Amino acid sequence: MTARNLLVSLMIFWCLLFLLLQHGCERDLSVRTPEFLMDMNTSAAYQSQESNPVFDDGRNLRLPVPGTIVRGFMPFPYGDGLEEAKRAGQELVNPFKPDPANLERGARNFKIYCAVCHGEGGKGDGTVTKRGVPPPPSLLLENAKKMPDGEIYHAITLGRNNMPSHGAQIGRDDRWKTILYVRKLQGVLK
Ligand code: HEC
Repeated sequence: MTARNLLVSLMIFWCLLFLLLQHGCERDLSVRTPEFLMDMNTSAAYQSQESNPVFDDGRNLRLPVPGTIVRGFMPFPYGDGLEEAKRAGQELVNPFKPDPANLERGARNFKIYCAVCHGEGGKGDGTVTKRGVPPPPSLLLENAKKMPDGEIYHAITLGRNNMPSHGAQIGRDDRWKTILYVRKLQGVLK
C-alpha cells in the first residue's frame, strides 16, 4: 500500500467515524437506550415516594419520632391570649445574659421595632401615638416591670391585645435580646 492510498483510506475511515458519531448524537431521547453496564443509573435505594416492604406501614418516608424536634429549631407551643401568655411567663427563661453585645443588639431591635409605639425610652410616647394611635402603657410601670421575660416574649411573638405580633419580623434570639434591653430601660438589670 502506497503512502497516498494509506492517507486516503485513513481519511475515509475518519469521515465514516465522524458520520457514525454524529448519528449517535441524534438519538431519540424518548426511547430508552440499551444499558450495557448498569453503572449508577439505576439505584438500589428506595425512592422517596415509593412504598417500602421493610416497614410495617409500608411508607418509605418516615415520620419523626414523637417528642423529637428539628435540630436548631425551638418550638413555641403556646396559643393566643393572656392565659397562654401567663403560661409562657411561667415556663420560659431568657437564654441570654445581659452582656454588652446582647444589650447593644437588643437596643438596636427596640429602636427598629418597638420605639414607634413604645417610644425610645419605653414611656409609651412613640411617633404613632402623636398621629392618632392610642398610646401603649409605659414599659417603665410596675406592671411591665413585674411581667416575666417569657410573657413579654409571648407578646412579641404573638401580639397582646392591641399590640400586633412581631414574630414574623424579629428572630427568636433577637426577641430575647430585645427583652434584655427593655429590662435595662426599666432599670431592673442586676
Ligand atoms: C404597633 C405598636 C406597637 C409596637 C410596634 C410594639 N408594641 Fe408593645 N404594645 C403595644 C400596645 C398597644 C400595648 C398594650 C396592649 C394591651 O392593651 O394590653 C403593648 C403592650 C406591650 C407590653 C405589655 C405592657 C403592659 O404593661 O401591659 C410589652 C412588654 C410590650 N408591649 C413590649 C413590646 C416590645 C418589646 C416591642 C418590640 C419588639 C413592642 N412591644 C412593639 C403596641 C406596640
